[in-house]
Amino acid sequence: MSYERSDRWRFNTRLVHEGEYLPGEGVRPTSMPIFATSTFVHPSAEALDQAFDENGLVYARYGNPTVGGLEQAVAAIEGGAGAVAFGSGMAATYVALLAAGTPRGATQPEACSVLAAQDLYGSSRTLLLQFFHAQGWPVTFCDMTDLDAVAEALRARPSIVFLEPISNPLLKVFDVERIVELARGVRARVVVDNTLASPVLLRPIEHGVDLVVHSATKYLGGHGDVLGGVVTARTDLLFDNARRYGKLLGTTLGPQEARLISRGMKTLSLRVRQQCTNANTVARWLLTQPQVGRVYYPGLEEHPQHELAARLFGDLFGGMVSFDLVPAERRAAFAFMDALKMVLPATTLGDVFSLVSYSAQSSHRDVPLEERRAQGISDGLLRLSIGIEDAEDIIEDLAQALAAVG
Ligand SMILES: Cc1ncc(COP(=O)(O)O)c(C=O)c1O
Repeated sequence: MSYERSDRWRFNTRLVHEGEYLPGEGVRPTSMPIFATSTFVHPSAEALDQAFDENGLVYARYGNPTVGGLEQAVAAIEGGAGAVAFGSGMAATYVALLAAGTPRGATQPEACSVLAAQDLYGSSRTLLLQFFHAQGWPVTFCDMTDLDAVAEALRARPSIVFLEPISNPLLKVFDVERIVELARGVRARVVVDNTLASPVLLRPIEHGVDLVVHSATKYLGGHGDVLGGVVTARTDLLFDNARRYGKLLGTTLGPQEARLISRGMKTLSLRVRQQCTNANTVARWLLTQPQVGRVYYPGLEEHPQHELAARLFGDLFGGMVSFDLVPAERRAAFAFMDALKMVLPATTLGDVFSLVSYSAQSSHRDVPLEERRAQGISDGLLRLSIGIEDAEDIIEDLAQALAAVG
């Protein structure tokens, strides 16, 4: 047979097959090998010269076939002009913002201003404030569930709008389509961190977003064994920016890590769908528990953006569920986490196994207490990342840990 990729492949086929294609005749491996090499030898100096000109294989910081396979797969799945892989989600966020801040025709980012969602992953918020703001980029935050507030904030004509379609840990959902329209009105570029939604729920480029970031450590990898990030760009220009900065900064992903992420992506759709089903079951069970206050899950009819989530995500509501313990105290949250026997109290999300995290201790540790409370993150807020186990086993473990709280 001759293995041929096709532009007509649908989403699940792309997840399985994209990025596995190695050109060449004869015997070939069925999956992309791990090219453990730091550099590449060409048959002639002329060929090497051409490879330099054409972003070919020259040196591993510039590109590697295993990493390239992952990049090609993500670009195809997200529907972008190209994707660049990074050593972590934070490196991806950093470069996406630099790429978004580079005007057409310029080779370097200019002094930009950023309008960011008030509900942002803690380290991304810290990156904006402690790095970009400190470098002279004005940064403002607004509540992006309020489109009037977004329109008002855009009157200052920021150059970049940055948000996560599903916020962490309160799982608010933002109207990416409307925000893109509003941002277009002031010629701002939109950067979206799509980590929590994953491409199964949302492909932001289809809604006009300019740059999409993933912490591949989470749903894309999915097995808790790899750290990585990826940026997909809507246009060739933005793709070129992201690739150039990645090369210069050396934020490169290694081939072993790339392979683990590529392998994880093949089952992304199956995993995320199972996680959504389990999360829905767990959220509805939590609602009935006396030790539980508010439950945050976009799949619940009472969630303020339930209808928006159904429209944007095609009736999938994600694998994350947050809830307030009663009493909403750090002591109770710690007792609950210590009592768990299967759900792992570990600082990550999107894995095949269920996880719990105490946001005040982990993702929002660096966010000052008053700010955290103003955002609605109580001292009893716990965030579950639901895995693909049997929902009954997840619930049994949560039940015995809740009983331990009292
Ligand atoms: C939404 C989101 N974005 C970005 C990151 C950063 O990713 P990484 O830890 O791979 O650098 C995280 C990590 O938790 C995250 O949750």
